[in-house]
Amino acid sequence: MIKSVAVLTSGGDAPGMNAAIRAVVRTGIKKGLKTFVVYEGYKGLYEGNIVEVDRNFVSDIINRGGTIINSARLPEFKEEEVRKVAVEQLRKHNIDALVVIGGDGSYMGAKRLTEMGIATIGLPGTIDNDIASTDYTIGFDTALNTICDCVDKIRDTNASHLRCTFIEVMGNHCGDLALFSGLAEGVEMVITPDHPISKDEIIERLKQLKFGFKKHALIVVSEKMFPDIYDLAKEVQVRTGFEVRAERLGHLQRGGKPSAFDRILATRCGVKAVELLLEGKSGVCVGMRKNEIVYYDIMDALKMKRDIHHELIKMLGLVNR
Ligand code: F6P
Repeated sequence: MIKSVAVLTSGGDAPGMNAAIRAVVRTGIKKGLKTFVVYEGYKGLYEGNIVEVDRNFVSDIINRGGTIINSARLPEFKEEEVRKVAVEQLRKHNIDALVVIGGDGSYMGAKRLTEMGIATIGLPGTIDNDIASTDYTIGFDTALNTICDCVDKIRDTNASHLRCTFIEVMGNHCGDLALFSGLAEGVEMVITPDHPISKDEIIERLKQLKFGFKKHALIVVSEKMFPDIYDLAKEVQVRTGFEVRAERLGHLQRGGKPSAFDRILATRCGVKAVELLLEGKSGVCVGMRKNEIVYYDIMDALKMKRDIHHELIKMLGLVNR
Protein backbone atom coordinates (compact mmCIF):
# COMPACT_ATOMS: atom_id res chain seq x y z
CA MET A 1 0.00 0.00 0.00
CA ILE A 2 1.36 3.44 -0.92
CA LYS A 3 2.04 5.93 1.86
CA SER A 4 2.75 9.08 -0.17
CA VAL A 5 1.85 10.68 -3.47
CA ALA A 6 3.37 13.46 -5.54
CA VAL A 7 1.79 15.39 -8.40
CA LEU A 8 3.34 17.23 -11.36
CA THR A 9 2.10 19.08 -14.45
CA SER A 10 3.81 18.50 -17.78
CA GLY A 11 3.66 19.94 -21.32
CA GLY A 12 1.60 22.99 -22.28
CA ASP A 13 -0.38 24.32 -19.33
CA ALA A 14 -4.17 24.03 -19.44
CA PRO A 15 -6.95 25.68 -17.43
CA GLY A 16 -8.13 23.17 -14.84
CA MET A 17 -4.70 21.78 -14.04
CA ASN A 18 -4.85 23.56 -10.68
CA ALA A 19 -8.21 21.98 -9.91
CA ALA A 20 -6.66 18.56 -10.64
CA ILE A 21 -3.66 19.27 -8.40
CA ARG A 22 -6.05 20.32 -5.65
CA ALA A 23 -8.11 17.14 -6.01
CA VAL A 24 -5.02 14.92 -5.83
CA VAL A 25 -3.61 16.71 -2.77
CA ARG A 26 -6.90 16.95 -0.87
CA THR A 27 -7.91 13.34 -1.61
CA GLY A 28 -4.42 12.12 -0.74
CA ILE A 29 -4.50 13.88 2.64
CA LYS A 30 -8.06 12.66 3.38
CA LYS A 31 -6.87 9.10 2.72
CA GLY A 32 -3.91 9.48 5.07
CA LEU A 33 -1.13 9.94 2.51
CA LYS A 34 1.81 12.34 2.66
CA THR A 35 1.41 14.69 -0.31
CA PHE A 36 4.07 16.37 -2.43
CA VAL A 37 4.23 18.60 -5.48
CA VAL A 38 6.98 18.54 -8.09
CA TYR A 39 7.66 21.94 -9.66
CA GLU A 40 8.26 22.26 -13.43
CA GLY A 41 7.19 18.82 -14.57
CA TYR A 42 9.72 16.11 -15.38
CA LYS A 43 12.47 18.73 -15.40
CA GLY A 44 11.76 19.53 -11.74
CA LEU A 45 11.56 15.83 -10.98
CA TYR A 46 15.04 15.34 -12.44
CA GLU A 47 16.34 18.36 -10.52
CA GLY A 48 14.67 17.33 -7.28
CA ASN A 49 12.38 20.34 -7.11
CA ILE A 50 9.96 18.54 -4.79
CA VAL A 51 8.10 19.97 -1.79
CA GLU A 52 5.75 18.40 0.74
CA VAL A 53 2.45 20.27 0.94
CA ASP A 54 -0.63 20.41 3.16
CA ARG A 55 -4.25 21.03 2.24
CA ASN A 56 -3.87 24.82 2.52
CA PHE A 57 -1.30 24.80 -0.27
CA VAL A 58 -4.13 24.13 -2.69
CA SER A 59 -6.63 26.61 -1.20
CA ASP A 60 -8.06 29.18 -3.61
CA ILE A 61 -6.62 27.61 -6.74
CA ILE A 62 -9.65 25.78 -8.14
CA ASN A 63 -10.58 28.92 -10.08
CA ARG A 64 -7.09 29.80 -11.31
CA GLY A 65 -5.76 29.25 -14.82
CA GLY A 66 -2.26 27.93 -15.59
CA THR A 67 -0.55 25.67 -13.09
CA ILE A 68 0.74 26.90 -9.75
CA ILE A 69 3.46 24.25 -9.81
CA ASN A 70 4.72 25.29 -13.26
CA SER A 71 5.08 23.09 -16.29
CA ALA A 72 7.85 22.18 -18.70
CA ARG A 73 8.71 19.89 -21.59
CA LEU A 74 11.70 17.58 -21.11
CA PRO A 75 12.34 15.43 -24.23
CA GLU A 76 15.39 13.94 -22.45
CA PHE A 77 13.02 12.09 -20.12
CA LYS A 78 13.01 9.37 -22.81
CA GLU A 79 16.55 8.51 -21.69
CA GLU A 80 16.77 5.88 -18.98
CA GLU A 81 19.69 7.62 -17.24
CA VAL A 82 17.57 10.75 -16.82
CA ARG A 83 14.66 8.74 -15.45
CA LYS A 84 16.96 6.94 -13.00
CA VAL A 85 17.89 10.30 -11.49
CA ALA A 86 14.19 11.20 -11.28
CA VAL A 87 13.42 7.94 -9.45
CA GLU A 88 16.28 8.61 -7.00
CA GLN A 89 14.81 12.05 -6.30
CA LEU A 90 11.44 10.48 -5.48
CA ARG A 91 13.09 7.84 -3.29
CA LYS A 92 14.95 10.55 -1.34
CA HIS A 93 11.56 11.89 -0.25
CA ASN A 94 10.11 8.40 0.29
CA ILE A 95 7.56 9.05 -2.45
CA ASP A 96 6.10 5.88 -3.85
CA ALA A 97 3.40 7.22 -6.18
CA LEU A 98 3.16 9.99 -8.77
CA VAL A 99 0.27 11.61 -10.64
CA VAL A 100 1.27 13.19 -13.97
CA ILE A 101 -1.13 15.77 -15.41
CA GLY A 102 -0.36 16.50 -19.06
CA GLY A 103 -0.75 15.49 -22.68
CA ASP A 104 -0.24 11.99 -24.00
CA GLY A 105 3.42 12.87 -24.59
CA SER A 106 3.73 12.84 -20.79
CA TYR A 107 2.00 9.46 -20.46
CA MET A 108 4.94 7.47 -21.82
CA GLY A 109 7.20 8.96 -19.14
CA ALA A 110 4.63 7.89 -16.54
CA LYS A 111 4.57 4.35 -17.92
CA ARG A 112 8.35 4.14 -17.82
CA LEU A 113 8.40 5.31 -14.18
CA THR A 114 5.90 2.58 -13.36
CA GLU A 115 8.30 0.02 -14.82
CA MET A 116 11.00 1.47 -12.56
CA GLY A 117 8.95 0.86 -9.41
CA ILE A 118 7.05 4.13 -8.95
CA ALA A 119 3.26 3.76 -9.03
CA THR A 120 2.21 6.32 -11.62
CA ILE A 121 -1.13 7.55 -13.03
CA GLY A 122 -1.66 9.91 -16.00
CA LEU A 123 -4.39 12.56 -16.15
CA PRO A 124 -5.37 14.29 -19.44
CA GLY A 125 -4.35 17.95 -19.14
CA THR A 126 -4.19 19.83 -22.45
CA ILE A 127 -6.36 22.31 -24.33
CA ASP A 128 -5.90 20.29 -27.54
CA ASN A 129 -8.42 17.48 -26.84
CA ASP A 130 -6.04 15.19 -28.70
CA ILE A 131 -5.97 12.28 -26.22
CA ALA A 132 -7.84 9.30 -27.65
CA SER A 133 -8.52 7.67 -24.28
CA THR A 134 -10.87 10.42 -23.11
CA ASP A 135 -13.82 12.22 -24.68
CA TYR A 136 -12.58 15.52 -23.25
CA THR A 137 -9.26 16.71 -21.89
CA ILE A 138 -8.94 19.09 -18.95
CA GLY A 139 -8.66 22.61 -20.43
CA PHE A 140 -10.40 22.01 -23.76
CA ASP A 141 -13.76 23.44 -22.71
CA THR A 142 -12.21 26.61 -21.31
CA ALA A 143 -10.04 27.18 -24.39
CA LEU A 144 -13.06 26.57 -26.61
CA ASN A 145 -15.05 29.20 -24.76
CA THR A 146 -12.13 31.62 -24.90
CA ILE A 147 -11.93 31.15 -28.67
CA CYS A 148 -15.68 31.72 -29.01
CA ASP A 149 -15.36 34.92 -27.01
CA CYS A 150 -12.62 36.12 -29.39
CA VAL A 151 -14.55 35.14 -32.50
CA ASP A 152 -17.61 37.02 -31.21
CA LYS A 153 -15.49 40.15 -30.95
CA ILE A 154 -13.79 39.68 -34.32
CA ARG A 155 -17.22 39.12 -35.86
CA ASP A 156 -18.37 42.62 -34.86
CA THR A 157 -15.55 44.42 -36.60
CA ASN A 158 -15.39 41.93 -39.49
CA ALA A 159 -19.08 42.45 -40.30
CA SER A 160 -18.83 46.22 -39.88
CA HIS A 161 -16.11 46.43 -42.51
CA LEU A 162 -17.48 43.68 -44.79
CA ARG A 163 -14.21 41.79 -44.49
CA CYS A 164 -13.07 38.21 -44.48
CA THR A 165 -11.02 37.17 -41.45
CA PHE A 166 -9.00 34.00 -40.96
CA ILE A 167 -8.76 33.00 -37.29
CA GLU A 168 -6.02 30.48 -36.51
CA VAL A 169 -6.54 28.43 -33.36
CA MET A 170 -4.34 25.99 -31.44
CA GLY A 171 -4.78 22.23 -31.18
CA ASN A 172 -1.42 20.91 -32.34
CA HIS A 173 -2.45 18.24 -34.91
CA CYS A 174 -5.98 17.96 -33.58
CA GLY A 175 -8.79 19.99 -35.17
CA ASP A 176 -11.27 19.85 -32.27
CA LEU A 177 -10.77 23.43 -31.07
CA ALA A 178 -11.37 24.66 -34.64
CA LEU A 179 -14.28 22.33 -35.35
CA PHE A 180 -16.14 22.95 -32.09
CA SER A 181 -15.59 26.72 -32.14
CA GLY A 182 -16.48 26.90 -35.84
CA LEU A 183 -19.77 25.14 -35.17
CA ALA A 184 -20.50 27.18 -32.07
CA GLU A 185 -19.84 30.37 -34.02
CA GLY A 186 -21.54 29.36 -37.28
CA VAL A 187 -18.56 30.56 -39.29
CA GLU A 188 -18.40 30.33 -43.08
CA MET A 189 -15.55 27.81 -43.19
CA VAL A 190 -13.77 25.49 -40.77
CA ILE A 191 -10.43 24.03 -41.85
CA THR A 192 -8.90 21.19 -39.81
CA PRO A 193 -6.73 18.10 -40.44
CA ASP A 194 -9.96 16.01 -40.55
CA HIS A 195 -11.71 18.58 -42.74
CA PRO A 196 -9.12 20.24 -44.98
CA ILE A 197 -10.07 22.82 -47.63
CA SER A 198 -7.54 23.73 -50.32
CA LYS A 199 -6.50 27.30 -50.99
CA ASP A 200 -8.20 27.23 -54.40
CA GLU A 201 -11.43 26.00 -52.90
CA ILE A 202 -11.36 28.67 -50.20
CA ILE A 203 -10.99 31.28 -52.91
CA GLU A 204 -13.77 29.79 -55.02
CA ARG A 205 -16.16 29.71 -52.04
CA LEU A 206 -15.31 33.29 -51.07
CA LYS A 207 -15.97 34.53 -54.61
CA GLN A 208 -19.37 32.88 -54.50
CA LEU A 209 -20.06 34.60 -51.17
CA LYS A 210 -18.92 37.99 -52.39
CA PHE A 211 -21.24 37.91 -55.35
CA GLY A 212 -24.00 36.27 -53.34
CA PHE A 213 -25.91 37.64 -50.39
CA LYS A 214 -23.13 37.45 -47.75
CA LYS A 215 -20.60 40.26 -47.85
CA HIS A 216 -18.39 39.19 -44.96
CA ALA A 217 -16.91 35.89 -43.83
CA LEU A 218 -15.20 34.24 -40.87
CA ILE A 219 -12.91 31.26 -41.39
CA VAL A 220 -11.55 29.24 -38.44
CA VAL A 221 -8.34 27.36 -39.24
CA SER A 222 -6.40 24.84 -37.14
CA GLU A 223 -2.78 25.74 -36.59
CA LYS A 224 -0.30 23.90 -38.89
CA MET A 225 -2.79 23.75 -41.79
CA PHE A 226 -1.06 26.57 -43.70
CA PRO A 227 2.58 27.62 -43.45
CA ASP A 228 1.65 31.26 -42.70
CA ILE A 229 -1.87 32.48 -42.10
CA TYR A 230 -0.87 36.10 -42.79
CA ASP A 231 0.58 35.20 -46.22
CA LEU A 232 -2.58 33.24 -46.95
CA ALA A 233 -4.70 36.28 -46.10
CA LYS A 234 -2.69 38.49 -48.49
CA GLU A 235 -3.06 36.05 -51.36
CA VAL A 236 -6.78 35.54 -50.75
CA GLN A 237 -7.28 39.32 -50.74
CA VAL A 238 -5.62 39.66 -54.14
CA ARG A 239 -7.52 36.75 -55.65
CA THR A 240 -11.02 37.44 -54.28
CA GLY A 241 -11.38 41.19 -53.99
CA PHE A 242 -12.38 40.72 -50.33
CA GLU A 243 -10.52 42.83 -47.82
CA VAL A 244 -8.88 40.08 -45.75
CA ARG A 245 -7.40 39.97 -42.25
CA ALA A 246 -5.78 37.17 -40.27
CA GLU A 247 -5.63 36.66 -36.49
CA ARG A 248 -3.53 34.05 -34.76
CA LEU A 249 -5.13 33.73 -31.33
CA GLY A 250 -1.97 32.20 -29.85
CA HIS A 251 -1.34 31.66 -26.16
CA LEU A 252 -4.29 33.68 -24.93
CA GLN A 253 -6.20 30.45 -25.69
CA ARG A 254 -4.32 28.70 -22.88
CA GLY A 255 -5.01 31.30 -20.21
CA GLY A 256 -7.95 32.35 -18.11
CA LYS A 257 -9.95 30.84 -15.30
CA PRO A 258 -11.18 27.32 -15.96
CA SER A 259 -14.81 26.75 -16.88
CA ALA A 260 -17.05 24.88 -14.42
CA PHE A 261 -16.89 21.88 -16.77
CA ASP A 262 -13.08 21.78 -16.62
CA ARG A 263 -13.01 22.24 -12.83
CA ILE A 264 -15.38 19.32 -12.35
CA LEU A 265 -13.64 17.09 -14.91
CA ALA A 266 -10.28 17.88 -13.26
CA THR A 267 -11.67 17.17 -9.80
CA ARG A 268 -13.19 13.86 -10.87
CA CYS A 269 -9.94 12.78 -12.55
CA GLY A 270 -7.79 13.85 -9.58
CA VAL A 271 -9.92 11.99 -7.06
CA LYS A 272 -9.98 8.89 -9.27
CA ALA A 273 -6.18 8.94 -9.62
CA VAL A 274 -5.67 8.67 -5.86
CA GLU A 275 -8.40 6.03 -5.52
CA LEU A 276 -6.73 3.94 -8.23
CA LEU A 277 -3.34 4.24 -6.54
CA LEU A 278 -4.87 3.08 -3.26
CA GLU A 279 -6.35 0.08 -5.10
CA GLY A 280 -2.83 -0.79 -6.19
CA LYS A 281 -3.23 0.36 -9.82
CA SER A 282 -0.32 1.88 -11.72
CA GLY A 283 0.69 2.64 -15.32
CA VAL A 284 -2.83 3.67 -16.17
CA CYS A 285 -4.39 6.90 -17.39
CA VAL A 286 -7.73 8.34 -16.40
CA GLY A 287 -10.29 9.80 -18.79
CA MET A 288 -13.98 10.38 -19.33
CA ARG A 289 -16.25 8.28 -21.57
CA LYS A 290 -19.92 9.14 -21.88
CA ASN A 291 -19.67 11.14 -18.65
CA GLU A 292 -18.17 8.21 -16.70
CA ILE A 293 -14.64 8.41 -15.31
CA VAL A 294 -12.68 5.48 -16.75
CA TYR A 295 -9.08 4.30 -16.89
CA TYR A 296 -6.92 2.38 -19.33
CA ASP A 297 -3.47 0.89 -19.36
CA ILE A 298 -1.25 3.65 -20.75
CA MET A 299 0.13 1.47 -23.56
CA ASP A 300 -3.41 0.57 -24.68
CA ALA A 301 -4.41 4.24 -24.46
CA LEU A 302 -1.48 5.36 -26.59
CA LYS A 303 -2.48 2.89 -29.32
CA MET A 304 -6.07 4.21 -29.47
CA LYS A 305 -7.16 6.26 -32.46
CA ARG A 306 -8.94 9.52 -31.83
CA ASP A 307 -12.57 9.67 -32.97
CA ILE A 308 -13.16 11.78 -36.04
CA HIS A 309 -16.29 13.82 -35.36
CA HIS A 310 -18.01 12.89 -38.63
CA GLU A 311 -21.41 13.96 -37.33
CA LEU A 312 -20.17 17.45 -36.49
CA ILE A 313 -18.24 17.78 -39.74
CA LYS A 314 -21.39 16.86 -41.66
CA MET A 315 -23.29 19.55 -39.76
CA LEU A 316 -20.94 22.21 -41.06
CA GLY A 317 -22.28 21.59 -44.55
CA LEU A 318 -25.85 21.83 -43.27
CA VAL A 319 -25.86 24.80 -40.93
CA ASN A 320 -22.70 26.73 -41.75
CA ARG A 321 -21.78 26.80 -45.43
O1 F6P B 1 -0.28 21.32 -26.55
C1 F6P B 1 -0.79 22.55 -26.20
C2 F6P B 1 -0.33 23.62 -27.17
O2 F6P B 1 -0.90 24.84 -26.74
C3 F6P B 1 -0.66 23.35 -28.65
O3 F6P B 1 -1.97 23.68 -28.97
C4 F6P B 1 0.36 24.24 -29.31
O4 F6P B 1 0.67 23.76 -30.59
C5 F6P B 1 1.55 24.15 -28.39
O5 F6P B 1 1.07 23.75 -27.12
C6 F6P B 1 2.31 25.45 -28.22
O6 F6P B 1 3.42 25.20 -27.42
P1 F6P B 1 4.34 26.31 -26.75
O7 F6P B 1 3.58 26.92 -25.61
O8 F6P B 1 5.54 25.56 -26.31
O9 F6P B 1 4.61 27.34 -27.82
